[in-house]
Amino acid sequence: TRPLKVALLGCGVVGSEVARIMTTHADDLAARVGAPVELAGVAVRRPDKVREGIDPELITTDATALVKRGDLDIVVEVIGGIEPARTLITTAFEHGASVVSANKALLAQDGAALHAAAEEHGKDLYYEAAVAGAIPLIRPLRESLAGDKVNRVLGIVNGTTNFILDKMDSTGAGYQEALDEATALGYAEADPTADVEGFDAAAKAAILAGIAFHTRVRLDDVHREGMTEVTAADFASAREMGCTIKLLAICERAEDGASVTARVHPAMIPLSHPLASVRGAYNAVFVESDASGQLMFYGPGAGGSPTASAVLGDLVAVGRNRLGGTTGPGESAYAALPVSPMGEV
Ligand code: HSE
Repeated sequence: TRPLKVALLGCGVVGSEVARIMTTHADDLAARVGAPVELAGVAVRRPDKVREGIDPELITTDATALVKRGDLDIVVEVIGGIEPARTLITTAFEHGASVVSANKALLAQDGAALHAAAEEHGKDLYYEAAVAGAIPLIRPLRESLAGDKVNRVLGIVNGTTNFILDKMDSTGAGYQEALDEATALGYAEADPTADVEGFDAAAKAAILAGIAFHTRVRLDDVHREGMTEVTAADFASAREMGCTIKLLAICERAEDGASVTARVHPAMIPLSHPLASVRGAYNAVFVESDASGQLMFYGPGAGGSPTASAVLGDLVAVGRNRLGGTTGPGESAYAALPVSPMGEV
């Protein structure tokens, strides 16, 4: 069988881990997919950085030329951000490749257009890694629960803020002190705005709501409140009431089924609730459906290896589709359920 050619766009914390596992687990991946999976090129910003285990000949700074090669089967986009990722992904479709992406900001903003581009070219667009790291959520919602009716998706989808809130709760620390520790340990970015102001969680809520309710939800549709105003005193009062505070993403179908809402905000959680015991940078998401009842998904929601695990799972799925001459579930079956701009809080 001919090898599947894979290009990697971005070789940071996630990309380098994807490349490493592709090399160390090459035989297993080939067995799972049904053909060898070959790294055909790696687009980076800093070509001089030492990248252990990657053939230097594969490294390029010209991502556009890489996705235009025309012989690629799968492009893995782990650059993040809107541009150049968006243009590179559409160019990849135009030149015959399917795409695996970990880019929540882009999917939350332009998911509909990207899905349309994938469908126009008969290609796959998979992005399990965009939401909650290693935790399988996109595929369970899109495939395993496709015969059920999901009514609510609720949980902790940002590891950085959960780490900060957990620290505040367990040590009595203030917000700034806990944030400084999260930064020192490498959880929080130098600019933590996307996490602490809830943009990251809102992007994930938009993606989850769109898939769960078969409609289109964009970042702008999500009511968002960050966690920068939560104080040590709030935690003390919460504890007096037998509660803790978590930053939650809540996606709901209206009772009449005619609309959906998505929102992100800090919420009091009774200590007896499973979400209260989600510690550190872990994520946990509840999915409630008519037939299944309540399901809980729990695990590492961020970090190089967990996120790479989700990317590689998509790589195997897309590789199988490719060899079978088919594509996975797209969005053509989406209904146009209206999204209420403000969820009822
Ligand atoms: N900044 C994100 C988080 C990374 O802390 O959850 C994973 O999406």
